[in-house]
Amino acid sequence: MPAEVATRLLPANRDAIAAAARVLGDGGLVAFPTETVYGLGADATNGEAVARLYAAKGRPRFNPLIAHVADAKATLALARFTDDARLLAGVFWPGPLTLVLPKHDTCPVSELATAGLDSIAVRVPDHSIAHDLLKAFGKPIVAPSANQSGHVSPTLAEHVRSDLEGRIDLIIDGGPASVGVESTIVSCLGAPTLLRPGGLPRDAIERVLGHALVIAEAPADETPLAPGMLASHYAPKSSLRLNAIDVRAGEALLAFGPAAPAAAHALNLSASGDLVEAAANLFHHLRMLDAAATSIAVMPIPNEGLGEAINDRLARAAAPRP
Ligand code: TXA
Ligand code: MG
Repeated sequence: MPAEVATRLLPANRDAIAAAARVLGDGGLVAFPTETVYGLGADATNGEAVARLYAAKGRPRFNPLIAHVADAKATLALARFTDDARLLAGVFWPGPLTLVLPKHDTCPVSELATAGLDSIAVRVPDHSIAHDLLKAFGKPIVAPSANQSGHVSPTLAEHVRSDLEGRIDLIIDGGPASVGVESTIVSCLGAPTLLRPGGLPRDAIERVLGHALVIAEAPADETPLAPGMLASHYAPKSSLRLNAIDVRAGEALLAFGPAAPAAAHALNLSASGDLVEAAANLFHHLRMLDAAATSIAVMPIPNEGLGEAINDRLARAAAPRP
């Protein structure tokens, strides 16, 4: 357990960005907003800072991190763009898409952050505060979601505070994350492969590529391709019952759409059945219901568009705990 540090919470403005860049330069940890979820940032080139980050999150060591950069050009110092990667980055960056690329031998990102792999995951976030911080810092920032490893991802500064207060130096409060689920991860090491469904729907990517993505299957007992694919991840304390069409005694209800059954504790991801709104609400609603009940009934969510990422996160939240 790392020693307690005083965690500052600052509203998102220029002073906060300057303070955050200083903290990162000193090897400290800063939680900052992105359009997907809040990230916990460290200087990607500083192995000690990265080690501190793993410790603060309680994250398994084999889980490599995403390097965040301000723009596609900044990627060139880290990795090589394959033709597919160049195409996808041109259309979808900045935005909720992470590309796994062949790492340059001269890549300055710490080996600890890439878990010793010869590939690296890179993302250009579409958020003004994240962008300004990356510009001010001038180096790549590794940032997993700013929650304790295995918990529900944070979409508000308050979620970060409740998970990580006393373990990180600074939280920049930039309001709610607009997308609400993590980035979609596509490996471009060979045929483009979907490693994690996320905030960019698969069909949008496939339309640009002109063909289907390969879908990675999580090897059951080996190190997963993207360790976010660990079966029990994003886990609330409550048990989840998926595809529920009724509410049983003692259950809270995570509803979707206009035809929700009545329940003592109910939150609707989107009463109008809008999957974009549902993704943005997912992790906050899970946290709220987790605090209200020990079991949660979850209504069926259509598996199209952002529904694929939502159902992926719900399946992990419902999986048996290790
Ligand atoms: O939206 C997001 O992506 C957020 C925000 C903060 O940017 N970040 C995020 O990071 O979700 P994290 O650490 O929770 O998830 C990163 C995922 C992990 O599943 C990791 O295994 C995978 O990316 N990953 C990182 N490097 C990889 C690599 N070289 N090959 C395959 N997977 C990799
Ligand atoms: Mg995470």
